[in-house]
Amino acid sequence: MINDIEKVYYSSEELHDITAKLGKKISEDYKDKNLLLVSILKGSVIFMADLMREITVPCEIDFMCVSSYENKTNNNSGVVKIVKDLDINVEGYDILLVEDILDSGRTLNYVRSLLEDRHPASIRICTLLDKPERRVVDLYADYSGAEVPDAFVVGYGLDYAQKYRNLPYIGVLKEEIYSKGE
Ligand code: IMP
Ligand code: MG
Repeated sequence: MINDIEKVYYSSEELHDITAKLGKKISEDYKDKNLLLVSILKGSVIFMADLMREITVPCEIDFMCVSSYENKTNNNSGVVKIVKDLDINVEGYDILLVEDILDSGRTLNYVRSLLEDRHPASIRICTLLDKPERRVVDLYADYSGAEVPDAFVVGYGLDYAQKYRNLPYIGVLKEEIYSKGE
């Protein structure tokens, strides 16, 4: 696996620091709120597990599984499929969407408008990584861990064709790996 990585972007120590900083800020902002962390599966699973342990105010968690990429490195179609919906009725909750990476923004734009129709008290977005150059819809993250340039990154939950999620760091995949699958 390690031979497929061109360069490490964020080590596990750096990811820990990023997550701790986000958790602290979220804990301040959600002191008197009814916080529901919604993890967008599968990519955010490691980030969610680390982030929730850095949050010091009461919260609940739920999971939504969406799929859009089907082994490609972009989502030009804009089609987002809800593979697993939430269990909780979100009415009155302060939802924080927990995402691995904001790319075109289409996935979260879709999820956010879907959840808005269910009358939560508020919805905000927390993303570990942001690729602002790639945005095609008008969407921003309320909490963002780090910006990455326009390159395909894997590890710490992020996949390419469902692999590499178990790498403990975030790295750039060698182009020869994903150019085969395009
Ligand atoms: P968006 O709808 O284009 O914003 O895409 C968001 C989703 O695309 C993320 O939740 C990831 O699953 C996936 N994605 C976007 N960029 C990358 C990347 O560099 N590596 C791995 N997955 C990515
Ligand atoms: Mg993915």
